[in-house]
Amino acid sequence: MAAVVLKRTGQKMPLVGFGLWKVTKSSCADTVYNAIKLGYRLFDGAGDYGNEKEAGEGIQRALKDGIVKRADLFITSKLWNTFHAADHVKELAQYQLKLWGLDYFDLYLIHFPIALKYVDPAHRFPPEWFGDDGNVHLQNTPMHETWQAMETLVDSGLVKNIGLSNCQGALILDVFRHARIEPQVLQVELHPYLTQEPLVALCKTLGIALTAYSSFGPQSYVELSMDKGASSLLEHPVVSNIAKSHGKTTSQVLLRWASQRGIAVIPKSNNYDRIVANFQSDDFDLTASDLKALSALNINLRLNDPADIDPRMAIFA
Ligand SMILES: NC(=O)c1ccc[n+]([C@@H]2O[C@H](COP(=O)([O-])OP(=O)(O)OC[C@H]3O[C@@H](n4cnc5c(N)ncnc54)[C@H](OP(=O)(O)O)[C@@H]3O)[C@@H](O)[C@H]2O)c1
Repeated sequence: MAAVVLKRTGQKMPLVGFGLWKVTKSSCADTVYNAIKLGYRLFDGAGDYGNEKEAGEGIQRALKDGIVKRADLFITSKLWNTFHAADHVKELAQYQLKLWGLDYFDLYLIHFPIALKYVDPAHRFPPEWFGDDGNVHLQNTPMHETWQAMETLVDSGLVKNIGLSNCQGALILDVFRHARIEPQVLQVELHPYLTQEPLVALCKTLGIALTAYSSFGPQSYVELSMDKGASSLLEHPVVSNIAKSHGKTTSQVLLRWASQRGIAVIPKSNNYDRIVANFQSDDFDLTASDLKALSALNINLRLNDPADIDPRMAIFA
């Protein structure tokens, strides 16, 4: 299976994985189990997705049935915003590991460079963006405090690799200035409507593996009424014509646009046939002119922006 080699540990992170955001809770265990049977090895979870226990059940069943060994899997989870204070990082990682039934994560990411007021998991989990009063409560925990606590997770063997998500160049460079353990992975929104070439180049320079999320652009946001009125990438004529020329689907072309450049993808689907198709997206090559035509669709359209929730969280400003 094609993989990206992580710089510090040499661990292989599969280029095509499975995203767990909005995977239906009631069918999540079966979805994960069947995805493993199909060959998926990387699962991208997060406390915020509210389905880590169920995803873990799917994993445990596959391990029990001898379909895979733990070492064959690459499990990612993320630290939610309400746990950025040093005292809370380990507490949350241990809480999440228990939900999954695992004793380590392969990768643990800071979900957003946004610190919010602590919410006790016994009170509400996942805590999401808002306090009990319906408002966003920011907390002044600087990134270096959270990063140092992330490093101690590596020291204690709870996670193998640590990384960032939803961060831009200035903040990434700052983390590198104080990091004892450098970020291994950056996970960001990346698709032909948001190509972010300078960020891709910076990651290459720094030796950070990149994971693209929301590879199908607006599609993931339609059901949330957050697609910002953008036209579908899956039905875009440029993407359709390229797909036709390779005998592939538009979804496979959108995934290959990233994976062919060594950028990992983590498509999510609740539909078996689409889960199969998404996994079979790295067995062909786009031409240089295909890649160029796809990248030329860039309109800097960012669909996942916390500033849309509260202007004080404009991390991409
Ligand atoms: N770090 C972060 O802040 C962050 C943010 C967003 C996402 N992520 C991660 O990235 C993963 C992927 O991103 P995403 O879930 O936003 O979006 P995505 O994978 O780009 O798109 C998912 C949407 O596309 C549909 N779909 C999936 N495969 C398809 C296919 N072959 N043909 C047509 N439609 C298809 C899905 O519907 P069906 O389910 O009905 O197939 C769903 O509506 C997430 O699950 C999550 O793990 C991380």
